[in-house]
Amino acid sequence: MGMKKIKIFDAEPGMILAKPVVVLHSKGRELMQPGFVLEKPHIKRLGIWGIESIFIETYDGDDDNNQIFNESVRMLARQTYEDAISSLAKISKNLISDKECDISQVARTISHILEVISLEQGVLSILSKLREADEYIYKHNVDVCVTALILGRAMNLNNDQLHDLGTACLLHDLGLAAYKNEKWDNSQITKEPENIRKHPLRSAEMASQIKGIGKDAITIINQHHEYVDGSGYPEGKKSDEIILLSRICAVSEAYNTLVSPYENENKVDPHEAMVKVVDPKFNRFDPEVLRAMISNMAIYPAGTFVQLNNAMRAVVISSTKDNPLRPRLLVLYESETKPIKPFPADLSQPGYQEWYIDKVVPSDNIMKSIEHIVRL
Ligand SMILES: [Fe+2]
Ligand SMILES: [Fe+2]
Repeated sequence: MGMKKIKIFDAEPGMILAKPVVVLHSKGRELMQPGFVLEKPHIKRLGIWGIESIFIETYDGDDDNNQIFNESVRMLARQTYEDAISSLAKISKNLISDKECDISQVARTISHILEVISLEQGVLSILSKLREADEYIYKHNVDVCVTALILGRAMNLNNDQLHDLGTACLLHDLGLAAYKNEKWDNSQITKEPENIRKHPLRSAEMASQIKGIGKDAITIINQHHEYVDGSGYPEGKKSDEIILLSRICAVSEAYNTLVSPYENENKVDPHEAMVKVVDPKFNRFDPEVLRAMISNMAIYPAGTFVQLNNAMRAVVISSTKDNPLRPRLLVLYESETKPIKPFPADLSQPGYQEWYIDKVVPSDNIMKSIEHIVRL
């Protein structure tokens, strides 16, 4: 059995959805899960709601299982991300001004994020491109929450643990938002070591005002900058003194701080951030969590343009979970300016042991490569 993408006007009653379809309308959202059997009224409604194409199950080997995101899931991801930021901003303002707040407001946001992640593993790449929200701290907290929940699901955490983890990550840096509210600017927050060291405690203090918040969620917030080698803060706790959920939060925190730092000039691309976080030179992070990260978040996604240690330049064709740092490539350039006849190179094979990826070349250079391939 395969799947096929069809235009909505080619849909017929009895066809079975192979990918979820989400429809946003004035009364909320409606989700049609894979396996849903379409009837005439559904097809009509999908057309009215502006869904242009759907994925249906096929039995004739006509497999069109490409990696194109379902348009409606993309819309849902965007909506969920924006909702998460605005509800977090509201919660934060209530906490800062001592207004009542209860856990159901946070729980709803976590459930929505989990729903999107369960629909599409690659959702992180959608979410990480949404950088429109102006409040850095809220955006950062939501990003840390999404990454941590992807890692948590990959590590088979149960639903209660996922909710504690998601809640803590969503609130982990609210202490910084409180400083900001007291007219502290970003540079004071990030450059003043004392403030940095205190913010987990301040965030935990704020979060503990939320009625019904779990004990573990507070512990995670307190420990989100503790590292397994003891080099973290505020207490310099080590390995098992830090609970697993905090160790997941710490990895997510480090990754997202590299991808989207306070000061934009230090920003790195997602693949560089992954390489930095999983670098064996550091013993800061729990190896189990790093393994989950390597297996579930592509370090060099297909299409990435890279430079090798021998100065050759290539496009990543595919990579495997077992060996994500050594993908299959199509080599296009002998050096920065010297094109060659393209040839494949699988870095996971013994013949390429001496080759490794030196750096990722900015994506605008990919266009040059494509022109080069077309010319050959
Ligand atoms: Fe923090
Ligand atoms: Fe943070």
